[in-house]
Amino acid sequence: MSVKTQDTVTGKVDPDVLAYTVGDDPVLDLDLVAWDCLGTAAHVTMLSEMPVSPPVVTKEEAERVRAELARIARDAGFTIERSDQDVHLAVERRLTETLGDLGKKIHTGRSRNDQVAVDVRLHIKDQLLELEREVAELAAALVAFGQAHDRVPLVGRTHLQPAMPSSVGVWATGHAEMILDQVACLEAAYALNDLCPLGSAAGYGVPLPLDRQRTSDLLGFARPLHNVFGASMARGEDEAALLSALAQMMAVLSRLAEDMILFSMPEFGYFRLPREYCTGSSIMPQKYNPDVLELVRSKTAQVLGLATGALSLLHAMPGGYNRDLQDTKGPYMKGLSTVRTTLRILAKFVRGLEIDEKALRAGFIPGVFATDAALRQVAAGVPWREAYHDVRDHLERLHSEDPDAAVAAKTHAGATAGLDYGLYERRLEELRISVESRQDAFRAKCDALLPKSTP
Ligand code: ARG
Repeated sequence: MSVKTQDTVTGKVDPDVLAYTVGDDPVLDLDLVAWDCLGTAAHVTMLSEMPVSPPVVTKEEAERVRAELARIARDAGFTIERSDQDVHLAVERRLTETLGDLGKKIHTGRSRNDQVAVDVRLHIKDQLLELEREVAELAAALVAFGQAHDRVPLVGRTHLQPAMPSSVGVWATGHAEMILDQVACLEAAYALNDLCPLGSAAGYGVPLPLDRQRTSDLLGFARPLHNVFGASMARGEDEAALLSALAQMMAVLSRLAEDMILFSMPEFGYFRLPREYCTGSSIMPQKYNPDVLELVRSKTAQVLGLATGALSLLHAMPGGYNRDLQDTKGPYMKGLSTVRTTLRILAKFVRGLEIDEKALRAGFIPGVFATDAALRQVAAGVPWREAYHDVRDHLERLHSEDPDAAVAAKTHAGATAGLDYGLYERRLEELRISVESRQDAFRAKCDALLPKSTP
């Protein structure tokens, strides 16, 4: 039986094969339209400057292409048909419909392989900077919460068992610091992503005098990926590095969520979650559940899965482009949006968090002061291990002490009475400035190529 084939830009294809290979690209690629237009604008600009005679496209033609690309990038109704396969061929179709033969020239010296890679990198750069801004906001909310309740005593726990005197300030800024330190991993992903694959074409270059530095500069990348084969293999690696950094960030956020779930249980009662951020039960009228925080845990598992999935997809793939790479697109997009919404909802949660001082103080059972009691003996000249055994052998002698005094007694750096809030303010300010200056520079590059066309 003969199957009716469908005409696509790249030839006749069986409709089932087309559907299977195109997958979700017509939907996912809508997020790449503006970035595809920018990549094409840079490529066409470079083509118009290429020292060949006759020119592939003239400067005036490049100008007309850029004008149409700017319209496409701003067109909210732009659609990608299954017969287009993806954003790249959809944009080319539109350019050919509106510009005729000129539209047919824009793909000269380029492959969809370097094209999609550049789109993804521009998209990731934009999203990662927004994400880092949201990281700063969550960390700032935690620092503000810590500062507002800085010396309020909170039982420090190990193995979940009461351990030593601590404070709300130490708890909150401890989580803030973990989150801020994760920026280093995001920055590693950012640096790997900030390299331009354009001009590698299908992964083997082309016999044309492409100026790869020029397209890299036009798009604001740190530099081009040099080796054309390597550039084609960097697709997927880039997404996997990003997802690994995102997974690590989620693992940190998940522990914050878990602490808030625990400390807001009636049995602890240390924190009160804002009621409007909790959800009820259809049967139990008294319920206010921390569903948001539970979903942070489950989404952490999801992002971990996405990162593992990306690496699994890559590890056995031969060098050069393989269609498998298309399947890294949905996961990196999902990973970014999941972490971004999680950062925002957690910041909202922390801003609404209240404490119950009475419950916090009630947690200070005598055992919490055991280490401090042994250290008092040390201060009187007893060797540490002897003091330790003395306290351990007479636990019944321990009594309730003043938790505020215990909190005030730990004055060294980073402890209950030694937190440097100025340090956090400086780190937050540094992060904000670094994000903002990169966003400004990136926007300026985009606007120079295609005015007002970035999402
Ligand atoms: N949609 C494709 C992807 O995301 C574009 C590249 C297609 N290249 C190819 N050689 N079939 O990977």
